[in-house]
Amino acid sequence: MRVILVGPPGSGKGTQAKLLSQRFGLAHISTGDVLRESVRLRTPAGLLAEPYLLAGTLVPDDVVNELVADLFRREECPQGFVLDGYPRTLAQAAWFDQVLRQQQLDITGVLLFLLEDEVIVRRLSGRWICPNRTCGATYHTYNRPPRVPGICDLCGTPLIQREDDREETIRHRLEVYHQTTAGLIDYYRAQGLVRDVSAEGTIEQVYDRVLQVLGKTRQPRS
Ligand code: AP5
Ligand code: MG
Repeated sequence: MRVILVGPPGSGKGTQAKLLSQRFGLAHISTGDVLRESVRLRTPAGLLAEPYLLAGTLVPDDVVNELVADLFRREECPQGFVLDGYPRTLAQAAWFDQVLRQQQLDITGVLLFLLEDEVIVRRLSGRWICPNRTCGATYHTYNRPPRVPGICDLCGTPLIQREDDREETIRHRLEVYHQTTAGLIDYYRAQGLVRDVSAEGTIEQVYDRVLQVLGKTRQPRS
């Protein structure tokens, strides 16, 4: 299965991508995570990307495209994947099509998460993440609180908030999303790949809708 998740910041792309990757053994590729890791490691791409991430603006297409192409050039090129937050522009989609053609892969579907801006602001201002790279669990003050406040349930690491999860930056990220994705969605709709998914309700409810549009069940059939 090769799925692309498109949706506004905070619509649950990362949360649902993680569930899908665990359930179907897919590579979870989040360009946001790759970029934040590049910033942490002070790589050339990370140094270039840092001001864009802090401002909540898109990193230039060529930088992101190169990071993605690099993943697909490797010997262990992912055959099944869930892409979270990439492609995000028409130029990225056109580039990614070329990468897929070279690997003789195609896309199963593009899931478009739909959620109102005000719900998003509430979700993102309550998000807490585990900075331990081998864990990366996500929590929410109200919707998914950790058992001990401020501590990861899975690995015990103190949780942090993302620097771009301040209300002003969240609103800017939403503006950027609304300005840049229309062309991208039209591009995939014209190929009959887009499935609209309401991202309202609980994580479990959204996951059920995701499985439904993919024609899958929750548990592997025995
Ligand atoms: P990125 O990391 O991709 O961030 P984003 O798109 O802004 O989305 P988020 O990660 O904030 O939200 P999400 O949809 O993953 O939601 P989550 O599951 O965490 O990008 C960050 C930056 O990197 C960009 O601004 C840009 O600068 C750069 N970048 C990345 N990709 C790029 C690209 N392709 N091109 C150029 N630049 C790029 O959920 C959010 C919260 O809600 C969590 O707390 C979660 O627990 C909770 N939650 C999830 N689902 C539910 C639910 N159903 N009910 C209640 N709470 C829920
Ligand atoms: Mg995310």
